[in-house]
Amino acid sequence: MMPPDISQEIRRIKTELNAKILAHNYQIADIQAVADVVGDSLELALAAKSSDADILIVCGVRFMAETAKILNPDKRVFIPVQDAGCPLADFLTPELIVEYRQKYPDAAVVVYVNSSAACKATADIVCTSGNAVAIVKSLPNLRILFGPDANLAGYVQEQVPEKKIIIMPTDGHCYVHQQFSLEDINNARKIGGIILAHPECPEVVRHKADIVASTGKMIKIIRDSNEQVWHIFTEEAIVVRLRSLFPDKKIFAVKDAVCKDMRKTSIEDLIRCIKNLQNEITLEKDSFESARRSLDRMLEASVS
Ligand code: 13P
Ligand code: SF4
Repeated sequence: MMPPDISQEIRRIKTELNAKILAHNYQIADIQAVADVVGDSLELALAAKSSDADILIVCGVRFMAETAKILNPDKRVFIPVQDAGCPLADFLTPELIVEYRQKYPDAAVVVYVNSSAACKATADIVCTSGNAVAIVKSLPNLRILFGPDANLAGYVQEQVPEKKIIIMPTDGHCYVHQQFSLEDINNARKIGGIILAHPECPEVVRHKADIVASTGKMIKIIRDSNEQVWHIFTEEAIVVRLRSLFPDKKIFAVKDAVCKDMRKTSIEDLIRCIKNLQNEITLEKDSFESARRSLDRMLEASVS
């Protein structure tokens, strides 16, 4: 637990600067405690878009802060740790998208929000784990180029069998979710309860889980259910949040489910960032407009 004076100090600076802190569900509890919004990638994008703050501090990984900046070009957006990245995002490049486009000119390009601003600029539309199925369904194209997460792409293909999902590249994955196995599922089944798996999990885990959902949906599912025992197949920080939201329920994490980049941000980094206004997100003008178009299309398609 963080000392109360630190949290008071953060609150004071936030008020003084008209700043808001957006934190992903995978951030440590101390950061979640001082955040104005805690959520999944879609919820953070929506919060960024509708925020009336002058300054946004995004606690998460780089693509989340970039997304906030793209959606709010007039606001100043900061990330507490410069090199908090997402190894999954690094699987996709704009050059690869162009290569696939040339091969499949009739296809729509859908990129997962876990991608660079340049990839978003090259795509037709963005999706998150929470709206990927709805986004793909909303498109008129029968062929969809989808990247960089092959597991999410596989999940979307299962949910939208009438379309052909072409995965680019074929091996994009998140190392945190990729390590979950049938053995982990069997261990959870021995305890009993409901298994919730993120769509970034491998096929075998998704198929054996009870429900596949984004981190934001996981919270709502547990909130709306009387079930007492839950197993969460995603990054373990969300389990800390779930346990504090639902103290009467038994909520289990999978061992070693730690995203090293999400864990890079400490409360000291956050204080340094907000006090000194350091690590501002700036993006090349060229890709800015196109990336915003792809993100706006997502928000229009998933909100309506
Ligand atoms: P959510 O959008 O479900 O929070 O997922 C983000 C992420 O990085 C998953 O690893
Ligand atoms: Fe990227 Fe995986 Fe970390 Fe999510 S958990 S930010 S997909 S590396």
